[in-house]
Amino acid sequence: ENPQLTPFEIFFKEIEKFSKLHMKDRDRVQEILQSMQKAGSKTLQVISDFDMTLTRFEYNGKRCPTCHNILERSDAISSDCKKKLQELLDKYYPIEIDSTLSVEEKLPLMVEWWTKAHELLVNQKIKKAGLAKAVKDSEAKLRDGYQYFFDHLNEHSIPLLIFSAGIGDILEEVIRQTEVFHPNVKVISNYMDFDESGVLKAFKGELIHIYNKKEGALLNTGHFQELRTRTNVLLLGDSLGDLNMADGVQDMENILKIGFLNDKVSKKHARSYAH
Ligand code: C5P
Ligand code: MG
Repeated sequence: ENPQLTPFEIFFKEIEKFSKLHMKDRDRVQEILQSMQKAGSKTLQVISDFDMTLTRFEYNGKRCPTCHNILERSDAISSDCKKKLQELLDKYYPIEIDSTLSVEEKLPLMVEWWTKAHELLVNQKIKKAGLAKAVKDSEAKLRDGYQYFFDHLNEHSIPLLIFSAGIGDILEEVIRQTEVFHPNVKVISNYMDFDESGVLKAFKGELIHIYNKKEGALLNTGHFQELRTRTNVLLLGDSLGDLNMADGVQDMENILKIGFLNDKVSKKHARSYAH
């Protein structure tokens, strides 16, 4: 213990020990944290992306699956369809992470990817009853420290909104199987629509892809209205589009944005998050 250091300086040093943490403006981060701490946990809400933010990007040198990948690689999908979905991934994922393209250039291509993939999935007559097994058999992995993160927020009744362009039913199953789907968790995502016999017939509502989280947030004003006294926001994401997840928050006072830099991340991307 070093008496000359403030608690924040000790805290920053601790974090820097284990992670490659970049802060655009350390003083500003400290200011935000101090202000949030003073206001207390009753004024806090957490908004997080799911794939590659709450879940790991890689484990033992191997890529971990997204919600879509979990389903695509399961035995609910024929081998012919797996091949087509893989071709889509090979075509569109490099576009998703291409930092030389603008959001405007990427947006229509991302809509194309999600639409084509969902069409293929709907044609597979996927059974609701098989989703739990697909998740169980998968290599999905939440990030280190997930247990403390989820449990601690729940113990303090801090709402956690998981806002994902993945698949809601799969995401829920991941957090259910890891026993962290606590009552403080709310999910906004693409949900599957099943017919009376439990077979996938469509996806519900408006498609959420990585670049329309703003619109998704604005469609859920009810949620943000309920949380209007929680004017301090902790936002976690891995894509530039995730920065818009808090656009529905009312009367925001402070927002601390934390970005996870996974694959071929540009300096520009890093700068957008690091404050
Ligand atoms: O939860 P999150 O919003 O991060 O989910 C979006 C992710 O899902 C994207 O980063 C994308 O790479 C992935 N995805 C996928 N297969 C699709 C569509 C999206 O793996 N067909
Ligand atoms: Mg993500």
